[in-house]
Amino acid sequence: MTEHHPALFEPLSIRSLELPNRIVMSAMTRSASPGGVPGPDVAAYYRRRAAGGTGLIITEGVAVEHPAAVDNPRVPRMYGDDALAGWRTVVDEVHAAGGRIVPQLWHVGPLWGAMSAVDPAITPMRPSGRWGSAGTTSYPDDYIARASRPTRPMTEDDMDEIVAAYVRAAVHAAELGFDGIALHGGHGYLLDAFLWHDTNTREDRWGGDALARSRFPARVVAAIRAAVGTELPLFFRFSQHKQQDYTARIAETPEELQVLLGALADAGVDVFDASIRRFDLPAFDGSDLTLAGWAKKLTGAHAMAVGSVGLGKPLRDSRIEGAAAVVDNIGEVERRIDAGEFDLIAIGRLHLADPALATTLRTGAPLTPFSRAVHEGRLY
Ligand SMILES: Cc1cc2nc3c(=O)[nH]c(=O)nc-3n(C[C@H](O)[C@H](O)[C@H](O)COP(=O)(O)O)c2cc1C
Repeated sequence: MTEHHPALFEPLSIRSLELPNRIVMSAMTRSASPGGVPGPDVAAYYRRRAAGGTGLIITEGVAVEHPAAVDNPRVPRMYGDDALAGWRTVVDEVHAAGGRIVPQLWHVGPLWGAMSAVDPAITPMRPSGRWGSAGTTSYPDDYIARASRPTRPMTEDDMDEIVAAYVRAAVHAAELGFDGIALHGGHGYLLDAFLWHDTNTREDRWGGDALARSRFPARVVAAIRAAVGTELPLFFRFSQHKQQDYTARIAETPEELQVLLGALADAGVDVFDASIRRFDLPAFDGSDLTLAGWAKKLTGAHAMAVGSVGLGKPLRDSRIEGAAAVVDNIGEVERRIDAGEFDLIAIGRLHLADPALATTLRTGAPLTPFSRAVHEGRLY
């Protein structure tokens, strides 16, 4: 049988993680874990992608143990015996099918209350009490009006508590046999809210220039690295865009990006997961290098690209939107991996459409179009 797309099927080792190929299932919230507990259907869902040949699965966002971490009770958590037992089954099933899996640890920070009605007694965690300036966004006006009211800025105690929560979640994940740890540091959530000047107007050591803004996320990374040791790879998702404003940026120039990401790499990040809507978009004027390409070039760490692989229409926000027809842009992914621009390609919606996506790519079979009607609310 002809092997299609050979660059996608080159193995890669990152610390103890040995990947048979470059195809990664991107983190996707499915809200299918009642009470925060991933059940057998969640395990079967991930197992299908492992059996389908996907090199690495990054789970949906998983809550760390903090009252304002996630506002949706169907989002899974990485604490409590019931949820941890559920994750053990997920990990075991993925491994039994020959796959590898990393949890994406999540604290929504300023966006607390965006998914569900929230307990008003709980304070959202915002570096400076700010939700951020609303720009191009899909959030409804009434939510923005409520969320934009300032809340109290995070205290040093809040920060200590949250670092400890991330560390506990990472240690649980390591004990359960996950193959690495991923952090959600993009899209306007907590860690990103430190990186973004609009949500971080602090005048202490946690705010100010790019180096100061990276300090809290870097502290979380360093604390996790110290707790889990040197074997497990750490992934860090970052983005220019925010759900508060798709046009927002954390770095106006490559120099500024170098400061932000350099601090995170020094703290222990192995792979930068550069979240954009289309994997081939240039990140800065004057170069066709993508955000993932810059992350790799500026830090020397590994980098992962994402966005509209195989699909003609980008995702507008974190909800599943509409339908997207298939386009053949896999050759361009390969060209960039071959050129060393980035190392891994994360694929979201096509992994919902086709659990055996990696096999489909390897054999050159036709891609399955994505349709919200077929895939929303259904764990297949
Ligand atoms: C249903 C759904 C849920 C998502 N949830 C998350 C999430 O929990 N964490 C995250 O970092 N990104 C999330 N995303 C974004 C995806 O990881 C990915 O970056 C995005 O879908 C673009 O890739 P695609 O064009 O291949 O779908 C989600 C996307 C979808 C479609």
